[in-house]
Amino acid sequence: MISGERRSGELEGAGTMRAVVYDEVGGPEVLHIAEVPTPEPAEDEVLVRVLAVAVDFIQLHIRHGGSGRIGSPKEPAYGLAPLPRIPGGTACVEVVECGSAVTNVEVGERHLVGGLRPGSYVEYGVVSAGSLSLGTPDAPGPTAMPANFGAVEAAAFDYAPVAYHTLRVAAGLTAGETVLIHSAAGGTGVLAVQLTKHFGATVIGVASSDAKLEVVQSLGADHTINSRTADVIEETLRLTDGEGVNVVWDPVGGHVFEQSPRAMAEGGRLVSLGSNSFTGTGVVEFWSFWVKNLRLIGWGGRSNSDAHAPEIMRELIELAEAGRLRPVVGGTYPFADAAAAHAAIEARRPIGKVVLVP
Ligand SMILES: NC(=O)c1ccc[n+]([C@@H]2O[C@H](COP(=O)([O-])OP(=O)(O)OC[C@H]3O[C@@H](n4cnc5c(N)ncnc54)[C@H](OP(=O)(O)O)[C@@H]3O)[C@@H](O)[C@H]2O)c1
Repeated sequence: MISGERRSGELEGAGTMRAVVYDEVGGPEVLHIAEVPTPEPAEDEVLVRVLAVAVDFIQLHIRHGGSGRIGSPKEPAYGLAPLPRIPGGTACVEVVECGSAVTNVEVGERHLVGGLRPGSYVEYGVVSAGSLSLGTPDAPGPTAMPANFGAVEAAAFDYAPVAYHTLRVAAGLTAGETVLIHSAAGGTGVLAVQLTKHFGATVIGVASSDAKLEVVQSLGADHTINSRTADVIEETLRLTDGEGVNVVWDPVGGHVFEQSPRAMAEGGRLVSLGSNSFTGTGVVEFWSFWVKNLRLIGWGGRSNSDAHAPEIMRELIELAEAGRLRPVVGGTYPFADAAAAHAAIEARRPIGKVVLVP
């Protein structure tokens, strides 16, 4: 039960905590602070203190009333918890209490974890102990984080496994290829740019302002395109001498998705992983897939857990700890300003990942 009363004060007494809640779907303004019961861990669960939470784009879709599948007409309510609702997303947490049957987790451990109950925009949450594993340095678990990262940086690193898996595994990127990265200054885009360079490929990074493109360039992009002032397809073809790119990394959907095949080389792969444009996933004309032997790759579902495979986690953590892969924090907001954080993302202002702190 969530109190709908709007308050921004501290905890009022034992047994309650502050959370960011919405009672109806809509714009960023529906987000507000409420007092909710502090959850208690079952015997196989742990209680965690939330240190920082990434604002994931998917939470914007869900808040607007679309589901985790961007409001698929076939499953309009897929993944939606009943209202009032606390947003989810990946949080950097510290374990403060273990259920009586928990043996694999210690109080004080820090994890990077999704799936908190009653949500992620909370002071305290519970999660099954079985889903938490720091693993070993050789085989890090899915919730391990780089040792040199503070809580905010760790939260902003949330989709590093997504960037890795979409490029290397889903698209099969190899050294010497060229990748067109849309939303290159987004929270995941900045990691995709760095990882593409790490894999030995050429980056063409797209973003909507010159300030964003400066950051994209500083992270190693070989070429940049301002999507507001240039024709992205024509410019990509010009940069590749008319050949097109081998891989398109597309978290934008809509028009971007539909136009991308025109900028692809023979044997190219188009990885679609999101719809940041809020215009749905789009419809591609299949002719170019025939004549250029293109491949269209949808990414999500099971791939999300595959992305946290130990060998991927190890490489990501090694790169981060060596200072060769870093998140970009696009703003840190207290819970009380969660609406402003969501609004900034919808206005396309932040560069990198926006992070909330209790
Ligand atoms: N399929 C899955 O299971 C799965 C799992 C995890 C993540 N994802 C996807 O991974 C992607 C990255 O997530 P993220 O949280 O890191 O988001 P993000 O990339 O930080 O999103 C913000 C970026 O979206 C771009 N954008 C384009 N059109 C926009 C619009 N109309 N309004 C606002 N922003 C717009 C902005 O770039 P410009 O202004 O430069 O255009 C901005 O930099 C998302 O698409 C997410 O859905 C998918």
